[in-house]
Amino acid sequence: MRLTADERAMLEGGYGPGTRKAMEILVGLGRIYGARRMVAVSSVQVAGVSYDNLGEAGLQFLESLAVGGARARVLATLNPAGCDIANWQALGISQEFFAKQSQVLEAYRKMAITTTCSCTPYLFGNLPHFGEHVAWAESSAVVYANAVLGARTNREGGPSALAAALTGRTPCYGYHLEENRHPDVRVHVKARFPRQSGGAATHEFGALGQAIGRRLEKAGKKVPYIEGIESASLEELKAFCASLATYGGVALFHLPGITPEAGAYPLPEISLTVTRGEIDALLRQESQAPRQSVDFLSLGCPHLSLREIAHLAELLRGQVVRREFWITTSRPVKRLADEMGFTEIIAASGAKFAVDTCCVVAPIRGRFKVMATDSAKACYYGYAKNDMHTLLLPIDELVVIATSSTS
Ligand code: F3S
Repeated sequence: MRLTADERAMLEGGYGPGTRKAMEILVGLGRIYGARRMVAVSSVQVAGVSYDNLGEAGLQFLESLAVGGARARVLATLNPAGCDIANWQALGISQEFFAKQSQVLEAYRKMAITTTCSCTPYLFGNLPHFGEHVAWAESSAVVYANAVLGARTNREGGPSALAAALTGRTPCYGYHLEENRHPDVRVHVKARFPRQSGGAATHEFGALGQAIGRRLEKAGKKVPYIEGIESASLEELKAFCASLATYGGVALFHLPGITPEAGAYPLPEISLTVTRGEIDALLRQESQAPRQSVDFLSLGCPHLSLREIAHLAELLRGQVVRREFWITTSRPVKRLADEMGFTEIIAASGAKFAVDTCCVVAPIRGRFKVMATDSAKACYYGYAKNDMHTLLLPIDELVVIATSSTS
C-alpha cells in the first residue's frame, strides 16, 4: 500500500505509540481488502462504547491508548454507551457498571473524542456532505451516511473506527470507491405508507427494511436501487436504514429523490418486488405477544429526533405510565427537549429518559420478558441479544400499552 510521508511517519512511531498502533491496524486492514492507499476522513463515529460489550480487556486497551498519548485528529463522536451516566440509578443500572462505563468515557475523552454517545450523530453536528469520506461504525448510521447524505464510508468495526479517529485516515476500499457504489439490484416497492400523526410511520419503514433486507440476503445482493417510495421523513429514513442494515447487511442503497447519487449509475437488470402484503405479514408476525404481557417499552432505536420527542410529549401529556418505558436519545437532542418543556411532560408521566444509551447495549438481559417498540432493529436484538419476546407497533399504540393497567 502506498503511504504518504505523514502516514509513514505515523506508522513508524513519529506521532507516538498510540498513533502507531492505530496506523498498524489500518495498514493491516488495507492489506486484507486490497486497498492501494489511505483516504483522509473528515469525521468518525466510534463504536465499542458500552462496557457491556467491551469488558475489562476493552477498557484496558482504551486506557492504554489514552495514557500513551493517542489523540483524535478529526471530529469523532461515540456510539451509545451502556448506561445514561446522568440517570443510571432510575434505569436500574448497578453502581459498578456505571463506574466502569464512566472509565470508558473518560478514556475516550482523554483521546479528544467527543463523549456524546449516539447512533444519530447527524442530528447534532457530525453531518458529512455528499462525497465526503468518513469512517463510521454503527450500522444504521453507516447506511444513513452513504444513502441519505451521500457521504462515503464502509461499516467500520470498533478498532478500525477508533484507528481512523486517531490518524484521520482509513484504507481506501469498498464504498470509498465509486466502482463499488453501483446498485446491483432493483427493488420495486408496491405499497403505500399511511401518514402517521407526528409524521413518522417508523414501525412501517422498519418492516419495509426488514422485508427488503431479507429478500436481498436471499438474493445475495447488497446495493439496492429502490423504486416506489414517494416520500420519507428523516425519522422514517433512520428506521429504514437501521432495519435494512440489520436484516440485509446493507450499507448503501439508492432511493430516487433522496440519495444524492441515485441515477448516476446504470440500473441493474435484476429486480424484485416487495408488496404491501409482505410488509403486513411481517407486522402481524412481529405483534403476536399479548399486549398485557409487555413489561418493557423502548423508543429511540435509532435515537429519537426532537420532532419524535415533541410528538411523544403530546401523547403522554397528563398520562400515567404504568410499565417500564425508556426514551433513548442523544444528550444534545435531550437538552433541546429540556428547553422546550418536552422532558418535563414526559418525565411527569413516569416514562424515563435513557440518554446516550439504548435498549440493546444496556445491561438488561434477564430483566424483562416482553418488549414493545416501534423499531424493527430493536426487535431483532431484543430477541437475539436480550432474550425478550418483542412487539413491533406504532408509537401511539405503544403509549396506550404503557399507560394501560398492568393487572
Ligand atoms: Fe442505535 Fe442502539 Fe438501535 S445503537 S440503532 S439505538 S441498537
